[in-house]
Amino acid sequence: MSNPSLLILAGDGIGPEVMTEVKRVIDWFGAKRDLAFDVEEDLVGGAAYDKHGTPLHDDTMAKALQVDAVLLGAVGGPKYDALDFSVKPERGLLRLRKEMDLFSNLRPAQCFDALADFSSLKKDIVAGLDIMIVRELTSGVYFGEPRGIFEEGNERVGINTQRYTESEIDRVARSAFELARRRGNKVCSMEKANVMESGILWREVVQKVHDTDYPDVELTHMYADNGAMQLVRAPKQFDVIVTDNLFGDILSDCAAMLTGSLGMLPSASLGAPNADGRPKALYEPVHGSAPDIAGQGKANPIACILSFAMALRYSFDQGDEAARLEAAVEKVLADGVRTADLLGEEGVTPVSTTGMGDAILAALDASL
Ligand code: NAD
Ligand code: IPM
Ligand code: MN
Repeated sequence: MSNPSLLILAGDGIGPEVMTEVKRVIDWFGAKRDLAFDVEEDLVGGAAYDKHGTPLHDDTMAKALQVDAVLLGAVGGPKYDALDFSVKPERGLLRLRKEMDLFSNLRPAQCFDALADFSSLKKDIVAGLDIMIVRELTSGVYFGEPRGIFEEGNERVGINTQRYTESEIDRVARSAFELARRRGNKVCSMEKANVMESGILWREVVQKVHDTDYPDVELTHMYADNGAMQLVRAPKQFDVIVTDNLFGDILSDCAAMLTGSLGMLPSASLGAPNADGRPKALYEPVHGSAPDIAGQGKANPIACILSFAMALRYSFDQGDEAARLEAAVEKVLADGVRTADLLGEEGVTPVSTTGMGDAILAALDASL
C-alpha cells in the first residue's frame, strides 16, 4: 500500500521557519515509527504570488484536493499589503478553505501546566484549561454576497454580508456535538441573536440539531460579546464552543492568549468525509506570518508541530502517535525549554526555533 500523502504549503514569514521543524518531526515518525508519508511541497500566499502572480496556483489547488491532508504554515506580510485585494496572500488560504469545503475549524486551547504562570491571566484561572473552539470556516461574512467597495452618492461604501443557510449551521453544529461527546459533553453556541437575524437562525438550528440528535449533550447559548468576556473571566466553564466564521476568528485569538502564546495554538480544518472515510483536511497554526520576528529564528514552532499532531489524529487514525507527540511537547515545556514568546521567568535564556525542534525530537527519542 502506498504511504499517506501530505501537501506542505509553508507560505510566508515565519511559516517556512516553523514548517522546517515540522518536517523534521515528520521524518522522525517515518524513521522511528514506521509511519512514512509521501510529502510534496508547494507555494501559497505571498510566496506563490511572487512566482505566479496569484496567491494560489490552480495546480496547487488541484493537488490540495487530491492529497490526504494539507499542512500550512502562514501567509501574508507587509510586503504584500499594497496588493490588489483579489491577489492578497490571505485570498490563497481562503480559496483553499472554500474549495476544499473545510467547514469545521477545530481550534483547541489547552493550557500546559508548565505555562500556566505566564498566561496574562492568573494561574488558577487557566491551569488545566482544555477547551475546543469549533469555528464555521466556509461561510458567513467572510464569503457572503453582496460584498465590495461601491460608489454611493459622493462617497464610497464598503459592504460585506453575513449569511448563513440552515444546512451550513446544521453541519457545523453536528461536528461540535460529535466532538463534545468525546470530550466533556458540553457545547456552548455563540452568536448575536439579540441583534442579527443570522444569529436568530443560528440559535434555532443549533437547538434543533441538539433536540433531534444530541439530547444527551448539554447545550447552552451565549451572545458572542458575553462569550468573549466569559473566556477571560472563567474560561474553564467551557468545553466545546461552536460559533460562526468571524466570531470564531476573534474568540480563538483570545483563547490563544489563555494558553500563554499565540505560538502554541494548532488547528484542524475539516470537511465532509471522502469515500475512504477520511475528511478533507488542512492543518495550520492559528497564528500568522509574524512579520515582526520573521527571519530571526525566534518563532515558536509548537503551534505548527501540534497541528501535525492533529493531522495524525484526525486524518490518519494515529491517536497514539499524536499523543506521543503532544507528550513530547509537554515534556519539553516542563523541562523549561522556552522560545522567546514564552519568556516570563527570570534567568531563562530562550532557545531558537531550531532549538525548540531539537528539544522536541530529543523528547520523542526518549519516548521510545
Ligand atoms: P500574527 O499571528 O502573525 O502575529 C501576532 C503577534 O504574535 C506578533 O507579535 C507575532 O510575533 C506573535 N506570534 C505569532 N506567531 C508566533 C509564533 N509562532 N512564535 C512567536 N510569536 C508569534 O498576526 P498579525 O501580526 O496580525 O498578522 C501578520 C500577517 O499574518 C498578516 O498578513 C495576516 O493577514 C497574516 N495572518 C495569517 C494567518 C494564517 O496564515 N493562517 C493567520 C493570522 C494572520
Ligand atoms: C486565521 C487568519 C485568517 C482568517 C486570515 C489570514 C485569512 O486570521 O486563520 O485565523 O481571518 O481566517
Ligand atoms: Mn485569525
